[in-house]
Amino acid sequence: MSTDLLRKSILFGGDYNPDQWLDRPDILSQDIKLMKMAGVTVVSVGIFSWSTLEPQEGVFCFDWLDEVIEHLHKEGISIFLSTPTGARPAWMATKYPQVLRVRADGTRNLFGERHNHCYSSPIYREKTAIINKKLAQRYGNHPAVKLWHISNEYGGQCHCELCQQNFREYLKKRYITLEALNKAWWSTFWSHTITSWDQIHSPVLHGENSVHGLSIDWMRFVTHMTTDFMEHEVAAVRAGKSTLPVTTNMMTSAEDSASDPGLDYWKFKNLIDIASWDSYPAWHLPGHLNLPRTIEAEQTLPVDDYRRAVEEGFQHDLFRSLSDGPFLLMESTPSNVNWQQISKIKKPGMIRLTALSAIAHGANSVQYFQWRKTRGSFEKFHGAFIGHDGKTDNRVFKELSELGSLLKQLSKVADSDVKAEAAVVYNWENRWAIETSKDAVNTNKKAYLETVKKHHYALVQQGIQCDIISGEESLKQLCSYRLIVAPMLYMATLATSSNLEKYVESGGILVATYRTGYVDQSDLCYESFPPGPLSQLFGLEVEECDALYHEEPITIVIPFEANRTSRANSYTQVSDYQDVIRDSHKAEVISRFNGGLAHEKPAVLKNTYGKGEAWYLASRLQAQTLQGLYKNIIQEAKIYSVHTDVANKSPSILVKERTGSDGRCFCFFLNFSATTASIRFTDPQREDITLGPWGSMMVEKDYSPSEAKGVVK
Ligand code: GAL
Repeated sequence: MSTDLLRKSILFGGDYNPDQWLDRPDILSQDIKLMKMAGVTVVSVGIFSWSTLEPQEGVFCFDWLDEVIEHLHKEGISIFLSTPTGARPAWMATKYPQVLRVRADGTRNLFGERHNHCYSSPIYREKTAIINKKLAQRYGNHPAVKLWHISNEYGGQCHCELCQQNFREYLKKRYITLEALNKAWWSTFWSHTITSWDQIHSPVLHGENSVHGLSIDWMRFVTHMTTDFMEHEVAAVRAGKSTLPVTTNMMTSAEDSASDPGLDYWKFKNLIDIASWDSYPAWHLPGHLNLPRTIEAEQTLPVDDYRRAVEEGFQHDLFRSLSDGPFLLMESTPSNVNWQQISKIKKPGMIRLTALSAIAHGANSVQYFQWRKTRGSFEKFHGAFIGHDGKTDNRVFKELSELGSLLKQLSKVADSDVKAEAAVVYNWENRWAIETSKDAVNTNKKAYLETVKKHHYALVQQGIQCDIISGEESLKQLCSYRLIVAPMLYMATLATSSNLEKYVESGGILVATYRTGYVDQSDLCYESFPPGPLSQLFGLEVEECDALYHEEPITIVIPFEANRTSRANSYTQVSDYQDVIRDSHKAEVISRFNGGLAHEKPAVLKNTYGKGEAWYLASRLQAQTLQGLYKNIIQEAKIYSVHTDVANKSPSILVKERTGSDGRCFCFFLNFSATTASIRFTDPQREDITLGPWGSMMVEKDYSPSEAKGVVK
């Protein structure tokens, strides 16, 4: 993306849907005035505008968009122009019902909703190519248009006959022969041997649903079909002679893995010029809902705003890593959403706090859904810059305008990056393999994503900035990290295993856990004890792994003396899985089990391998124990922590840093709580920082107190 736009300022704005107001020229001209008032610098236009752009088949209507774009341009507001394929016009579904999706039960959807189109459909592709090319020809070189916003939140599956055929073609390329496919799917089991490609069908509840290799290949195919469709969209834009950079807005939920779109986002990395995502966490949970979630051992971690901020931070870290640099916060809400069970309004201060948090994690834009509240239909009560009353003398508009001014002052941050010496592995194929498998634990306590986030949380608690990686990066890229944490790497391919081994050999520190190294890329179990191809690296073999009931009183000795509060308090509960490590292990034992099948056997081990270290956790540790463990690893390895110069801080303050190529360092102090919080520094010359409820500030490191006052709330 052109560096001037992205590296020179923090963009501010959101989704703008003027097509909903074309009969209200008064509103349209008011919009631009109010955008200027709020300090808006960018809007995303045209996201669901297909029926206005092409009201009848082959009849195109661009006049309204010409006017909108000219008007925005005149006022110096930049545009992210969307292709309209996130939803299709009714005429298309009526004339060509084959553009609609077929569900897993075989029924074709009726017209309606948005992401309800088949990516295989030739007619949908044809219509997409036409509209995208026309948009590109008309606006693709307009000075106000800076970026292609391709479609909107791709996601979902189609089970139509064309998709089945494409799935078979995909499998033919992957396996070449049926023999290889049958071997990979272990299909003699239950007599499921495939004797002709035509027999293959997507996994569905009323059909095949127990061949794990098939299920994982189907998920791979869904990503493949979606990225293929995205490539088709981009090709049409290029055919319209536009060379502008592209993004597509992605989404994953911070709090609930079920609302994942089912796509392997790592496969989008090469298709986009910059990553963007839509963030909608549920803030402000009251005390009685502050219950631990999936993982039983987390009794000590309520889902308060701080915790939620770190979880949202995980997503920011993920999309920054996908972007290999700054990313765009394409959507968030300025007040409430309208689709959570209880859609809370952001408390005073939260607009600025969550915006600064995004920037602190590497965002170079703060954008909202939406500019103006719609009057009708599904999102009429969703938060916006401008409410139904059209007024600006209200809290939300005031806070947004203040943010608009603040972001102008923060433009110097745009040319800086988050420097991470640690990386956490989050791999979608591994996730699908874990979630699909029938295993000792079949409840939501498998909790792969939650476990990844729990390790990320433990690192953030130590002030460690983390990238999120797939684990499939080149050895060179892996070696750019001092520490790599790869929880539950159940599907450890030979290639990844070999890279991780070389990474440690050359001096890296790797942390892994139970449920590591079980299967290869086909989900076939290795013919060895786990962690399979990683056994030598970790210096151990797992003979058995027991599943634990929630009540089982199994503990381990707290691994580090310094983390014990008292002698009597030197044991800590573990949960869900207990590995029995074979006695022949070479790794040094750091802690042992007390109770269970592995009583007195190793629970935490460290193997020195080449110039590095490989740590193995044989059970799920409580959050605090994990933090204690990382504290020691980090201190010994001298990994940089943003808490280095902090003597004391309230637990609700999140500290983050971005560093410029010129060495300037921007520190963010973010108080995710309803009470006043403060920070004291090791340097007695440095004034304490006190932040009010949901208060936030950004200062340059080594700031003078007067400069700090300029930004403090
Ligand atoms: C997003 C979507 C937007 C809007 C928003 C409401 O997921 O991209 O179009 O629907 O949710 O929160």
